[in-house]
Amino acid sequence: TGMFTYDPGFTSTASCESKITYIDGDAGVLLYRGYPIQQLAEHGDFLETCYLLLYGELPTGAQKADFDYRITRHTMVHEQMAKFFQGFRRDAHPMAVMVAAVGALSAFYHDSTNIADPTQRLVASTRMIAKIPTLAAMAYKYSIGQPFVYPKNDLDYTSNFLRMCFAVPCEDYKVNPVLARALDRIFILHADHEQNASTSTVRLSGSSGANPFACIAAGIASLWGPAHGGANEAVLKMLEEIGTPERIPHYIARAKDKDDPFRLMGFGHRVYKNYDPRAKIMQTTTREVLSELGVKDVLLDVALELERIALHDDYFIEKKLYPNIDFYSGITLKAMNFPTAMFTVLFAVARTVGWIAQWKEMIEDPGSKIGRPRQLYTGAPQREYVPITKRA
Ligand code: CMC
Repeated sequence: TGMFTYDPGFTSTASCESKITYIDGDAGVLLYRGYPIQQLAEHGDFLETCYLLLYGELPTGAQKADFDYRITRHTMVHEQMAKFFQGFRRDAHPMAVMVAAVGALSAFYHDSTNIADPTQRLVASTRMIAKIPTLAAMAYKYSIGQPFVYPKNDLDYTSNFLRMCFAVPCEDYKVNPVLARALDRIFILHADHEQNASTSTVRLSGSSGANPFACIAAGIASLWGPAHGGANEAVLKMLEEIGTPERIPHYIARAKDKDDPFRLMGFGHRVYKNYDPRAKIMQTTTREVLSELGVKDVLLDVALELERIALHDDYFIEKKLYPNIDFYSGITLKAMNFPTAMFTVLFAVARTVGWIAQWKEMIEDPGSKIGRPRQLYTGAPQREYVPITKRA
């Protein structure tokens, strides 16, 4: 047993080298390819961030125009995918639909499954980033029984997504630029986060040579869990359950009680032992969206008060538990009219670029090999088979 390092949860194991994302959890710093997340969120747009994550540098004007064009050209999905959606129960969780739909892409784009060809790797990356909003919007439309809306390619990435989600055939739909900008920023904040559970899942799946669509389906499955991407949905459910600021102390007490499994959703992080820089930007975005829509949501008051109390509570201070990105995103998405079940889907839309960039980096790393963790066996020692008639 002395042969392997035992590291449950990989708290001290680096599984790869990467040039994509840097986190300093103690200082609360997040950089994509060296650029602070705050600067990208304030000045950039999501597709520029995608280019940066994929290629390592910010694009020139010409490179950006070419990239936008390439993504736009790939936004449609094969018409048979619509039939695939029809097979689901109409109340299926959209994350269940997404795991299946993204996995199904590998059955449509056979050329992109040839991962040995660098051109095909790029085409696969483009297809994934371009089609994920289309699939996400289809999952949403299906869940509410409305017809699918085709992409409209003179719109920017995020406006197009909003239109595919909220346009209906009987009415004109005009994208609200403030909301499009806010959602674009939310996408930037979620675009990558180094070797978290879903990204590690994508890399581990891809290390066997599996095709990128299948790997991203695996990543989406991992993201679904409430300890990971599912937390934004869990936060909103928690805030609704708390309901009013007066009831917060009861929930704080529960979160601190060792015998109670309840945790404050949207609090704590494996890597950040300081304020999650994304949560700060998210909080500002939440205020902007609520004010644009003229929405007064008591859940924002509950969230702000919960944060205030927790940040002054010894338990949370000692354990360095701060709000994470999911703490405010749910309130924003709710104000935009997304149902709770779509929150993690939106996370998946944004994280797709991170997954594909990490997958590509792994495939192109000459030092990478199939991921194959070892174990400490704690089961029965070797023993003799006993016929069933002789078993006590
Ligand atoms: N509420 C109450 N106590 C907590 C919380 C919380 N949200 N998070 C951690 N703790 C306590 C935990 O009980 C443990 O206490 P002790 O040392 O006495 O046993 C200590 O803090 C360390 O927690 P841990 O579970 O060992 O830490 P971890 O690094 O394994 O887990 C986490 C990180 C994010 C899973 C966890 O903090 C958590 O469950 N948070 C709530 C869910 C959440 O918001 N997830 C979103 C993460 S950010 C976005 C994303 O990754 O998708």
